[in-house]
Order: sequence, then C-alpha cells, then structure tokens
Amino acid sequence: MFIGKYDIKNGILAPMAGYTDIAFRELCKSYGAGLTVTEMVSVRGLVHGNKATSDLMRVANSEKPSCIQLFGNDPADFARAAEKLSCDIIDVNMGCPMPKIVKNGDGAALIKDPERAGAIVRALKNATDKPVTVKTRLGYETGNDGAAQLIESVAKAGAAAVAVHGRYAEQRYTGNCDLNKLKALAHGCSIPFIANGDIADVKAEPPFSAVMIGRAALADPAVFCGGRVDPFELARRHVALLLEYFDERYTVNQCRKFFVHYFKGVRGGKQLRDAVNRAENASDVRFALDKAQSGVYN
Ligand SMILES: Cc1cc2nc3c(=O)[nH]c(=O)nc-3n(C[C@H](O)[C@H](O)[C@H](O)COP(=O)(O)O)c2cc1C
Repeated sequence: MFIGKYDIKNGILAPMAGYTDIAFRELCKSYGAGLTVTEMVSVRGLVHGNKATSDLMRVANSEKPSCIQLFGNDPADFARAAEKLSCDIIDVNMGCPMPKIVKNGDGAALIKDPERAGAIVRALKNATDKPVTVKTRLGYETGNDGAAQLIESVAKAGAAAVAVHGRYAEQRYTGNCDLNKLKALAHGCSIPFIANGDIADVKAEPPFSAVMIGRAALADPAVFCGGRVDPFELARRHVALLLEYFDERYTVNQCRKFFVHYFKGVRGGKQLRDAVNRAENASDVRFALDKAQSGVYN
C-alpha cells in the first residue's frame, strides 16, 4: 500500500506507549516491519519544547519511512508542532481510550467530534507536505459506530490512510475485535485502510490495504517475517539495541517488561525473569540470560 509516496510493503508495527521506543522499533524493522510508528507524542509538549517529548521523537536510520504519532485536540497546536517534525509521515491518535487522555478531549474523544478531527488533519496538511494518517477505533460507546463519520471527515481533509482498531473505546482491550465491522468500514472507505486488533499475520487481504500488529509483536517481533526466533537471541539483540540508545536503568526496566513476553512458556523463564527483576545493570541481565540458556534454572 502507499502512504503518500511511501510504499509500505509489509505489516505495520502498532504504536504502543512504553514499548515501541526507538530500540524496539529498530528490532521490529530488522525482522521486516513495513512501517514503525513512535509512541504517542503530545503536541502540547512539542510546541513547548519539552525534553521528554523530544526523546520520544528520535527515530532510527533504518526507519524509512519514519512515522511520529501525535496526540492533542487543538488544530493550531498540530500546525505548530508539524513545523518541528523531521519525520516522513505524521500519524494522529484518535483512538486512545485512557481516561487521562480522553478527559482532555484527545485520543478517542475525537471520535465524538469528527469536525474537529477533520480540522486537525486540515491544519497539518496546510502546515506540511508530509502525508498524514489517522489511527482510531470502531467508535466510542460500544455499539455506536462513530468511525465511519470520522473517517469521512479526515479523508475529506486530506488524510492519506486510516488505521482502525476493531474495538470500541469503551471496551479498551476487552471482548473480541470485530473483524466484520472492520471489513464493512474498509469497504466504505475512500482512502487506504489498515486493519488492527488481535492480528498476528502480516498478510493483508482485501478490503484491507495493510495490517497493523501490536501485542503479537511484543511476544515475537519476528512476526513480521512469519517466524519465531530463539528467545535468548532475541533478548540479547534487544539488550544491545537498548544500550545503543538508552542508559542502563532504562535498559533493565525494558528487559523486565519485555522478558515477560519473550520467555512466556520457556523452561527456566520464571527464574530468569526473577533474576532480571533483581538486576542492577545490563551485565546482570546478560549474566541471567547466560545462566538460563545453560539450563541452570531448569
Ligand atoms: C501497552 C500499549 C500501549 C499502547 N499505546 C498506544 C499509543 O501510544 N498509540 C496508539 O495509537 N495506540 C496505542 N495502543 C494500541 C495499539 O496500537 C493497538 O491498537 C492495540 O493494541 C490493538 O492491536 P493488537 O491487538 O495488535 O495489540 C497501545 C496498546 C498497548 C497494549
């Protein structure tokens, strides 16, 4: 599928706050992810030159094209933020259901205000030549399909593609993803449509232009090349990438989060995770990996 002039040839890594940092995105890219998207970045933070915000926006050389996800609700903020971005594609979060986001009118709150959603895309399009994409959900209240109106509005405003998670905001992550609703939405959509939610196969069948994979990639970043890699090799590569970009403390914290997924069901995995929970630095993590791999924990 094309997003503007960019040919996206494989599945897309979903943005996941707290997980899809530059190291994990580079890891997924190395396994063939067609596009990687940053964690969501506040347009307010960007406009005010917040340091944490600029850290979130770093992209790796392998991320070609690069895509930054923004959240906010004021079209003028988006326009100002766009001038500060050096990525290739801008994505707008219109699906985050977390109360601290929604209560400010950001994320999924925009599903209830399709006019404002359109105004945000229009403001970005006026401020930059970069393609603008939107990520949303089926609707806000369960059973109330607001996405169709939202998509019509952002498509009219010039959005290059839309990604839809097949749940309602109210559901958060409970219940099943509704594939039939996603198909119906895709059929009525005038721009490329990216399906998202409980998907672990990178092949996109019509009416979808591409698929976006989130949690399945946390368990196995090699999902993008259809395979499963040795968890120890995966973990060591991830540690090395984390150390390229971050300090030891952050690296150990990310290992604690990711190893829960990488070593689920692996013999000695629990003891390894316990050792990583006690680790003080990356050497401790590597030592625990060596021990686990040599079977000491079995
Ligand atoms: C820990 C976590 C963090 C997330 N953060 C974001 C985010 O920053 N922006 C966003 O648009 N979606 C975010 N999502 C939603 C995912 O992008 C995706 O839509 C959702 O997980 C469904 O896809 P999946 O079933 O493939 O995981 C997050 C999901 C999880 C589990």
